[in-house]
Amino acid sequence: MKTPRQNYVSLSELVTQRLRPSDLDLAAELLAQGKLVAFPTETVYGLGADARNDTAVARVFEAKGRPSFNPLIVHVASFEAAAQIVVFDEAAQRLADAFWPGPLSLVLPVRPDAGLSALVSAGLPTVAIRVPAQDLARDLLTRAGRPIAAPSANPSGMISPTTAAHVLSGLEGRIDAVIDDGPCTVGLESTILSTDPLCQLRPGGLPLSALEACLGQEIKLKDHADAREGPVNSPGQLASHYAPRSRLRMNVERPEPDELMISFGQSQSPNSSRAAYNLSANGDLMEAAAALFATLHMADAKAQILGKTLAIAPIPDIGLGLAINDRLRRAAA
Ligand code: TXA
Ligand code: MG
Repeated sequence: MKTPRQNYVSLSELVTQRLRPSDLDLAAELLAQGKLVAFPTETVYGLGADARNDTAVARVFEAKGRPSFNPLIVHVASFEAAAQIVVFDEAAQRLADAFWPGPLSLVLPVRPDAGLSALVSAGLPTVAIRVPAQDLARDLLTRAGRPIAAPSANPSGMISPTTAAHVLSGLEGRIDAVIDDGPCTVGLESTILSTDPLCQLRPGGLPLSALEACLGQEIKLKDHADAREGPVNSPGQLASHYAPRSRLRMNVERPEPDELMISFGQSQSPNSSRAAYNLSANGDLMEAAAALFATLHMADAKAQILGKTLAIAPIPDIGLGLAINDRLRRAAA
């Protein structure tokens, strides 16, 4: 499937409006007109478009430079709104009850009468859907009164945005508006899960252990290696993703002199005084997740100026650490 490129003004002619949280009616109106509005969620800033409007959805792919075979997540204000778009099986219903609103996207069969643009699901019979936890996001979705497709509001393949400034640095002049409501609290994209077959497609802001405890069974991980071939796959489908411009080395105990160090917890290394950033001095994974993308944005800019590369300390592979390491591997690829 090809992304249509006609019928709208050149994206470079746009002036991106900065909106405040008090401007939600205007933001909802812009979405209804088929415009692109970036908005905060608890995970990352999303680039919103009316999921039933083909042209609006096509413009999302265009603005991000995103391959059109990579489907989008649909955002709605409530479970009831989701039930009009997808069919819930028992497991999905239980997970939605337990974790919505929150950082969980469920991949479920799309209803034939949902009216979604085929571009949203890249032609798949399923669609990823979630109810975000951030009040402002749900308020916007309620006012918009329609399902909103929203990928992360960054150029495809680059570091995800957790502030309005990150959104503007990547997409200024390519989108119609951004609502600034401060930094995102979770800081990692939603965990993506399909229930038939039951598997995690992307680690994210909700740890796998919580999902397993809810269902009382083990959840398989989708092998990212085969996630590169076709549309059925989820994030990181591209091995290189979330990428800074600077080279990034993982699991570094002692940085080289030409490396800008991002640490985690209290390092015992004699070279730790070189650490320019710390994701969490207390070694708290939730704090590290919330700081991850903002730190990568800052460290990358600094490394570019100083002509250095990036090094990052080992992050424990448990809980949210699994999702952090997933993002870092793709950033390093
Ligand atoms: O936290 C999030 O999920 C953020 C905020 C804005 O909600 N959104 C986000 O969207 O991360 P995006 O487009 O950056 O990532 C969506 C991922 C894509 O990698 C896509 O492959 C996967 O969801 N996806 C969407 N629909 C799918 C489907 N039907 N089957 C499998 N994967 C799907
Ligand atoms: Mg993304």
